[in-house]
Amino acid sequence: MNEDLLTRTALQGFADARRSDFEAELRTLVDIPSVSSDPERARDIRLCAEAAVDLFRRHGGTAEILETSGNPMVLGRFDSDPGDPSVTVYNHLDVQPANEPEWTSDPFRMEIQGDAYLGRGTTDDKGPALTAFFGALAAREAGVPLNVRFLWELEEEIGSPSFRQGLETHRERLGGGLVIVSDTIWVTRGRPSTPAGLRGLAGFRLTLETARHDLHSGVVGGAARNPLAELITAVADMVDGPTGRVKIPHFYKEVVKPSRKELREWTRSGFSVETFMSDHHLLTLRTRHPRRIMKRVWARPTMEVHGVVGGYTGPGIKTAVPPRAEVKLSCRLVPDMDVDSTLDRIRRFLASHHPDVQMHAEHGLAPFRGQVDGPVAQAVKDAYAFGFGAPCCFTREGGSIGAVSTLEEVLGCRVFFLGLSLPSHGYHAPNENYDWEQASGGMAAFAHLFRAAAFERP
Ligand code: BES
Ligand code: MN
Ligand code: MN
Repeated sequence: MNEDLLTRTALQGFADARRSDFEAELRTLVDIPSVSSDPERARDIRLCAEAAVDLFRRHGGTAEILETSGNPMVLGRFDSDPGDPSVTVYNHLDVQPANEPEWTSDPFRMEIQGDAYLGRGTTDDKGPALTAFFGALAAREAGVPLNVRFLWELEEEIGSPSFRQGLETHRERLGGGLVIVSDTIWVTRGRPSTPAGLRGLAGFRLTLETARHDLHSGVVGGAARNPLAELITAVADMVDGPTGRVKIPHFYKEVVKPSRKELREWTRSGFSVETFMSDHHLLTLRTRHPRRIMKRVWARPTMEVHGVVGGYTGPGIKTAVPPRAEVKLSCRLVPDMDVDSTLDRIRRFLASHHPDVQMHAEHGLAPFRGQVDGPVAQAVKDAYAFGFGAPCCFTREGGSIGAVSTLEEVLGCRVFFLGLSLPSHGYHAPNENYDWEQASGGMAAFAHLFRAAAFERP
């Protein structure tokens, strides 16, 4: 192994020399609209998997498509020697839709603006995937004795419905060793953070039908039931809009409070209300107290209304009683909440208060609690300090990654996070972007972590 190629200066040189290569490869991936929620994009999902396989082969690695009952996964590898330790890096290559009107460029034609890369999937999660990939190239050039595998999923953004089945089917190809996930965000630029926990998700829809078609509200109104008004009432019975307080009995029963130690770490994380608001383009908040904001997003469950379908939405008003309506909701869950018991409590509440409302369960993702002590957690901290020259904090994430607890359960390993995205990159937002500072620092951080993984056996 050539240690001279693994100094911070050498790795900066590596990144700079490969910059145009990185940008070209990122463009190839971003220009494929691999939107997993859109059945019409199935062909693009397949093309994206094939482009990923091609990427590994062109850079001297091996790769194959692993079929599942849903979208395929990609397994890429840079092998050293079978006797060397192994690491698996998980990312996802599927993306959210990009029909927001605020896009200033075509979301599926990557645009380079100085150091920024604009396009859907640049930061969630194609850019971080490719950053880890280039980190592995650097480690391989330096002769780091490690087998690096990449597992790239293509249905994360729809709740990973076939991931467990896919992992179980291809279990022996995946092997053991450490798993690193790069699909999380820092507190803000310059302040690396790695999650000690993720929230889970319990999605559901409510529907109610009370007539066959639109009716004149002067002719039947007063006697006819109004499904929109009833669903709005049901929502208001479940959650208090202004405070966010969920009113379902026993909803908060299993919630574990963050420890004193965690709260102390959060205070040091660099979180600022002003930056939080400007990074996310927020106009107003439920609280301006920094610790309360962190607690609300990282350590408390929620019930969110995502959409209401029904009734007249054209110009002016139409004096009709709508025949049916739908509300789309989800709860974010924290340790030790459980998807099924949360949905059961909601179902029971609706059955007694709104018996005609139909409830349909959607995504179910368990909350996750990570490890903050031990050699691997330390190696992750060291990698951030090495790559970015700033200490990293253990925070938590409010978002969910379905694959994480499945990876631990099926592979019998612990998962750690080396996320590289920033709040200002705009996950799922218009003008999503990634940038060279995160990419070049991330390549160095990954190379450093690979070096540590080759010698410290966790
Ligand atoms: N990368 C995110 C998860 C995430 C969000 C991590 C925020 C850290 C902070 C992931 O791609 C994602 O968006 N997950 C979805 C899953 C859902 C669509 C099933 C989520 O959290 O809503
Ligand atoms: Mn993601
Ligand atoms: Mn996402």
